[in-house]
Amino acid sequence: MSLAVEVQGLIKYYGKVRVLDGIDLEIPSGTVMGLLGPNGAGKTTTVRIVTTLLAPSSGRVQVAGVDVLKDPARARTRLGLSGQYAAIDTNLSGFENLRMVARLYGMSHKRSADRATELLAALGLEHAAGRRAGTYSGGMARRLDLAGALVCRPPVVVLDEPTTGLDPRGRLDMWRVIGELVDDGTTVLLTTQYLEEADLLADRITVIDRGRVIARGSADELKTSIGGDKLTVTLAAGQDPKPAKQVLAQVGIGEPLEDPAADQITVVVGDGTRTMVEALRRLDDAGICILDADVHRPSLDDVFLSLTGKSTDRKLSECRTDTVQEEILS
Ligand SMILES: Nc1ncnc2c1ncn2[C@@H]1O[C@H](COP(=O)(O)OP(=O)(O)O)[C@@H](O)[C@H]1O
Ligand SMILES: [Mg+2]
Repeated sequence: MSLAVEVQGLIKYYGKVRVLDGIDLEIPSGTVMGLLGPNGAGKTTTVRIVTTLLAPSSGRVQVAGVDVLKDPARARTRLGLSGQYAAIDTNLSGFENLRMVARLYGMSHKRSADRATELLAALGLEHAAGRRAGTYSGGMARRLDLAGALVCRPPVVVLDEPTTGLDPRGRLDMWRVIGELVDDGTTVLLTTQYLEEADLLADRITVIDRGRVIARGSADELKTSIGGDKLTVTLAAGQDPKPAKQVLAQVGIGEPLEDPAADQITVVVGDGTRTMVEALRRLDDAGICILDADVHRPSLDDVFLSLTGKSTDRKLSECRTDTVQEEILS
């Protein structure tokens, strides 16, 4: 397994404040790493160091085999960076922006124009190619910025909060584009504060909080690490919850929790589906009427709560948009 990005013991002080406290990252070539954490966790600081824009206080960074600190110029040829705020010239059209970037990279006039056209098509912007970038929607501007980062076909692309502030439509478009990048074999380091985004896009996730790695693994592993599935049973109207709770306590792990407002009882279970069948049989034997039962895996929200001992910070939960979730599920 070759590593496209390797970060070891990254430490960064701003004055006396240690904002990165020993970050390690390993990203195998052709995979997506999600760097997940709340506002102020140190995501941007990390990606700025990885992309040569900022020097660490100590630590080592390699990108595509190049030591970023010793040879930043060469490392830059391996990297594309697209940030949270689009860096484009709003007076130029989309086409002109990309052609200019290509020219800056030393491509010929003809190659620059061809590459600009190619990228506009790939990012779904061909209809707006001739329009001033200043008239673009937030999502379009962000995709144009990403296109600029792809001009030289870098093997490693770094995306700092690519969908923060976008509406659901813009977010979906960006997710599609990132998915296509990955299908082409590009290695992606993506920061996000959206749990569902990391869940959807990343092969592996590194959760950071206050400059430290607090967990890593695939979304599945992170979810499994905090315990089994959850079984939720909805009682029929007027059904006494007490006996149902007793039955669920026998099949589950730990104490069942009751949500009286929804007539629901939830319990953590080991083997979700098998336990559900057993629970339904026992509830039926006990003459307890239920309306519904379902098993679900913990969400990354649950993971974050369990890791940090606090609910995802307000910012995180505010950012969750149920519309987006529905759209990606459908
Ligand atoms: N130039 C700077 N000077 C001082 N502190 C900074 C500077 N940039 C970021 N910080 C601090 O470093 C911490 C991490 O910031 P950042 O990497 O931007 O977090 P994130 O991108 O995860 O929101 C925050 O506490 C932030 O206030
Ligand atoms: Mg940031």
